[in-house]
Amino acid sequence: MSEALYKKLGLVNTREMFKKAMEGKYAIPAYNFNNMEQLQAIVGACAESGSPVIIQVSSGARKYANQTLLRYMAEGAVQMVRNDLKSNIPICLHLDHGDTFELCKSCIETGFSSVMIDGSAHPYEENIALTKKVVEFAHPFDVTVEGELGVLAGIEDDVKAEQHTYTDPKQVEDFVKRTGVDSLAISIGTSHGAYKFKPGQPVPPLRFDILKEIEKKLPGFPIVLHGASSVPQEYVEMVNKFGGAMKGAVGVPEEQLREAAKSAVCKINIDSDGRLVVTGVIRKVFAEKPAEFDPRKYLGPARDELKKLLVHKNQNVLGSAGRA
Ligand code: G3H
Ligand code: 13P
Ligand code: ZN
Repeated sequence: MSEALYKKLGLVNTREMFKKAMEGKYAIPAYNFNNMEQLQAIVGACAESGSPVIIQVSSGARKYANQTLLRYMAEGAVQMVRNDLKSNIPICLHLDHGDTFELCKSCIETGFSSVMIDGSAHPYEENIALTKKVVEFAHPFDVTVEGELGVLAGIEDDVKAEQHTYTDPKQVEDFVKRTGVDSLAISIGTSHGAYKFKPGQPVPPLRFDILKEIEKKLPGFPIVLHGASSVPQEYVEMVNKFGGAMKGAVGVPEEQLREAAKSAVCKINIDSDGRLVVTGVIRKVFAEKPAEFDPRKYLGPARDELKKLLVHKNQNVLGSAGRA
């Protein structure tokens, strides 16, 4: 086993987290971050609620904030959680939707403890070859790897898919066996972004039948649910009330996420909800205090509201609170 940088930083991979989540029938929150305030809210909420957490960096986040800076922020967040918040929650730093071997390698070498290689846009055999190559590089460093089978509708890695391609349960066993991945992201009806379903119409239930088939083929294997923001309507209304235009934004009902968290789904990815809250609160402050020009006066309240929402998710949706 090569020396893994992430261990020196106080980070953990997903293996133990997922094992406990599977046994305890809850899901680990995987929250995306791009800046300091989001990261403070995420680790603050998880320390307060005693939840293990996966903090994840997307390609967009790398372009926006710089991979090196984000990784040092993660290291700083671990220090803050241990020293100032006096909390011992496990923290995993994960690459979200990595699309090349080189990117995954670079994240592993700079201290990430987990990577996703998303080869879902490639033909099956190419997805296997790419994923296997990443696993073979990652495992000697004890870095865990998430693969993906099936395509979510919406925008994924700058690739826009009009239609879902649901994960084919017949492929999952072969994929996991041949690649050696530690977890598998599946497509069962969620999508990325804030507009997941047709507005004004009943939300179609997620395809729990497909999930059950997958569980039968891969007993005890950790499954990942992307596109799992619930798009709380109070924040959509806040955005719209204060000059925004997000009519028709709809997410996955919390009840369905609760059900998923009790199944083999061990990791639930949430990004859009964080964006929504931050945007709503900033719009409100700008509308109510037009003379305000100190970023701390609008980023601070946005951060506090985001933290509140994430505590709620950990406690009432994912069931991860108190499991650290
Ligand atoms: O999976 C998609 C995430 O929401 C990240 O999106 O690349 O715009 O940061 P992003
Ligand atoms: P949302 O857009 O539903 O928050 O999904 C985020 C995600 O899947 C990140 O990988
Ligand atoms: Zn995703």
